[in-house]
Amino acid sequence: MNIAVYPGSFDPTTNGHLDVIERAAKIVDKLIVGVLINPNKKGLFTVEERVEQLKIITAHLPNVEIKSFSGLLVDFARSVEARIVIRGLRAVTDFEYEFQMALTNRSLAEEIETLFIPTSAHYMYVSSSMVKEVASFGKGVEGMVPELVQKQMADKFIVKDI
Ligand code: PNS
Repeated sequence: MNIAVYPGSFDPTTNGHLDVIERAAKIVDKLIVGVLINPNKKGLFTVEERVEQLKIITAHLPNVEIKSFSGLLVDFARSVEARIVIRGLRAVTDFEYEFQMALTNRSLAEEIETLFIPTSAHYMYVSSSMVKEVASFGKGVEGMVPELVQKQMADKFIVKDI
């Protein structure tokens, strides 16, 4: 069975993330979305909130599971018996960081392979940080994030045009 991990911060999940999840879920038997617990970085949403968001957003995908993890990604991947790490690529600007991360992970765990999935051209510009910035100025983020996240962001910020 091909088990893959799709790790990230998911603060919050964007439509770009969801696009990658849907594409990855089609090519592996089981996809585990891993939400990083990073004690050094206070997010907009708690890890529990992000996990809950992802569970609801991916409820239509029977082979997708949502978990949180701390520590090294390769240790998490091994703990769930995953041999594949999925990462989305939006543009060439993502590549250097992603390549470095993939090679670091390979040096730590030779048996784990990173697969890059290009996101839909539609979501090339969408990132969690941009979405947060736009919402923090009171603007709606429809089209960039799933509807559930859009509503939850409106509750966190005072969004005028939702
Ligand atoms: O959504 P992000 O913030 O780009 O995801 C980054 C993530 C969570 C994949 C990366 O920071 C990570 O894997 N962190 C766990 C620590 C680790 O394994 N570091 C070594 C590889 S860089």
